[in-house]
Amino acid sequence: MTYENILAETRGKVGLVTLNRPKALNALSLAMMREIGKALDAFEQDDAIGAVVMTGSDRAFAAGADIRDLQEKEFMHLFLADFPHGPTEGWHSLNTMRKPVIAAVAGLALGGGCEMAMACDMIIAAENARFGQPEIKLGTMPGAGGTQRLTRTIGKAKAMDLCLTGRMMDVQEAERSGLVSRIVPVAELLDEALKVADTIANMSRPVVYLVKEAVNVSFSSTLQEGLRFESRAFHSTFATEDRREGMAAFVEKREPQFKHR
Ligand code: HXC
Repeated sequence: MTYENILAETRGKVGLVTLNRPKALNALSLAMMREIGKALDAFEQDDAIGAVVMTGSDRAFAAGADIRDLQEKEFMHLFLADFPHGPTEGWHSLNTMRKPVIAAVAGLALGGGCEMAMACDMIIAAENARFGQPEIKLGTMPGAGGTQRLTRTIGKAKAMDLCLTGRMMDVQEAERSGLVSRIVPVAELLDEALKVADTIANMSRPVVYLVKEAVNVSFSSTLQEGLRFESRAFHSTFATEDRREGMAAFVEKREPQFKHR
């Protein structure tokens, strides 16, 4: 499938979505967001794909929602569309998909761009990456997780600082704060992200789904509920062939052959 605002391709078992409006610093137009949703849906449904990487250009992952698109919008349009969580406009698929998505971020990840990276399951960042929630400078505020995921990830003090002043943080601060899992040179970003995604894609898929779900449950549950969910998920891995194969392979000193069953 070809798109106008993104590139979607496969690299072995990994789906790769590249935001492709470099001149506009990958500002997330509504058309682009719809295409991202379609590409993610297609990868989610493709049995040959085990993980997805989402990336931008060396200069920008995404500089936010497209301000020109948003400029004319009224309350009722955004409310009725449940923007950006609704199925028609926004990144519903990113919030609901079970396959892990890695954000490979170089350059700017601002506003909706930072929120989209945070909606992914981990962020691998290049040395030039910068993150921010500058919406307040436009007289609006984060609307896709900026006040929620950012606060849960980097804590209240820094989230307040970023959301109230609109300042950017560099990649070192982002890594120190727990937003970013790894920092790599710009030239190595995509390879590193694809390598990590390939590692995940070669794990047992049902177990990958359970791990992702369990980590995410920690955001919406008490510790006690989360531990209960985790133990039930752990028990259920013992109903898989892949768990049997993984442990047998260790004992027999060979690589496991997971069949996603
Ligand atoms: C539309 C954008 C854009 C955006 C950049 N551009 N960001 N267009 N929406 N969010 C366009 C510029 O208009 C310009 O187009 C081109 O990209 C290059 O940008 P410059 O400003 O010339 O580059 P530079 O001087 O390097 O400044 C980079 C920048 C600045 C600091 C990132 O562009 C900027 O402040 N952008 C806005 C960032 C922002 O406020 N993001 C939050 C958006 S609201 P032309 O045609 O002039 O060359 C949001 C809400 C999310 O995200 C809600 C939920 C989804």
